[in-house]
Amino acid sequence: MRRYEVFPDNIDAPLQQASFEPAPLGDTEVAVAIKAVSLNFRDILVTRNTYFAPISGGLVPCSDGAGEVVAVGSQVQGLAVGDRVATLFFPHWQSGKPDARALSDARGAESAGAFTEHFVSDERGLIKLPDGLSYAEGATLPCAAVTAWNSLFEAGDLKPGQTVLLLGTGGVSIFALQFAKAAGAKVIITSSDDAKLERARVLGADHGINYRRHPEWHEEVLRLTGGQGVDVVLEVGGPGTLERSLMSVATGGRIAYIGVLTGLAGAANPVMLIPKASSIQGIFVGSRAMFADMLAAIQTHVIHPVIDREFAFADAPAALEYMKSGSHFGKIVVRVGD
Ligand SMILES: NC(=O)c1ccc[n+]([C@@H]2O[C@H](COP(=O)([O-])OP(=O)(O)OC[C@H]3O[C@@H](n4cnc5c(N)ncnc54)[C@H](OP(=O)(O)O)[C@@H]3O)[C@@H](O)[C@H]2O)c1
Repeated sequence: MRRYEVFPDNIDAPLQQASFEPAPLGDTEVAVAIKAVSLNFRDILVTRNTYFAPISGGLVPCSDGAGEVVAVGSQVQGLAVGDRVATLFFPHWQSGKPDARALSDARGAESAGAFTEHFVSDERGLIKLPDGLSYAEGATLPCAAVTAWNSLFEAGDLKPGQTVLLLGTGGVSIFALQFAKAAGAKVIITSSDDAKLERARVLGADHGINYRRHPEWHEEVLRLTGGQGVDVVLEVGGPGTLERSLMSVATGGRIAYIGVLTGLAGAANPVMLIPKASSIQGIFVGSRAMFADMLAAIQTHVIHPVIDREFAFADAPAALEYMKSGSHFGKIVVRVGD
């Protein structure tokens, strides 16, 4: 069997293919022939060892995989050989508010990830995929899509008619665009690229702002909302964008603090949260229950994830470089086992 392993100390080749022999299956475990993985910005952080958890050489990367169940342990009840499944980012976060246990063993960082031909998990760490989604589409969901869902509808409490601000056109933002439009919300999205803004408009975005042409983009957000600001911000930029997100949020609005695209260091003054009675909440992906709700919405609204490009298994290092370039719109997928 083949898999990828991460070696952050090897700057020239942090992602390397390796062969391995699968271990015997435990009683509650399930073996999955992974067919596709998707990349997330965090996979860049993992290969650089700048992720929240320290990364050991030899770790199997990637939280997001989808495939076919090929064997089940004697005590497995909910899955059978032939089922189509996706991985959970947090194998222990089943539902409700997270505690330390729920947010432990994050796949592809604190525990082995899905970038392997033979993935083994407790059955509670997998979720069945609906028939309407391909393996490539299913592989895009565990991290970016669940994060977008949690940010909009759990932490963000987004309601029809409200306005959401999305930063850039990467994986999280494009899922959020699709979900927010299906839920009847208005979307303002930013990008460095007019062609990407046009693609976002085709997907339903109400307004696009080029943040290169408008470095003071919060002023455009306020202009477009009649000075009111937006109800929900999905803050994927981090320290470099937070100050403007704070100025973009409406009275009573919510900022879902998700990402670090602009880097880890910096400072933003949150004082205006007080007179606006607005809030900011850290988001860490989501639970199986959120994943299930999201899959129901995906089926009802016939939503298909936006896959920018698919790579062959052997081309994983090129896929990672492509992600680093930021040229993509939506998700990047690597096929496994072909
Ligand atoms: N907390 C969580 O649970 C969680 C979950 C998923 C992701 N994240 C984090 O969220 C962030 C986004 O993840 P992702 O996987 O969606 O990333 P991604 O697909 O790599 O997004 C890349 C895109 O972000 C946009 N971007 C880059 N710098 C920007 C800036 N200064 N302002 C606005 N947009 C900017 C660019 O869009 P344009 O080309 O259109 O300009 C770029 O193409 C990352 O920091 C990731 O680590 C966190």
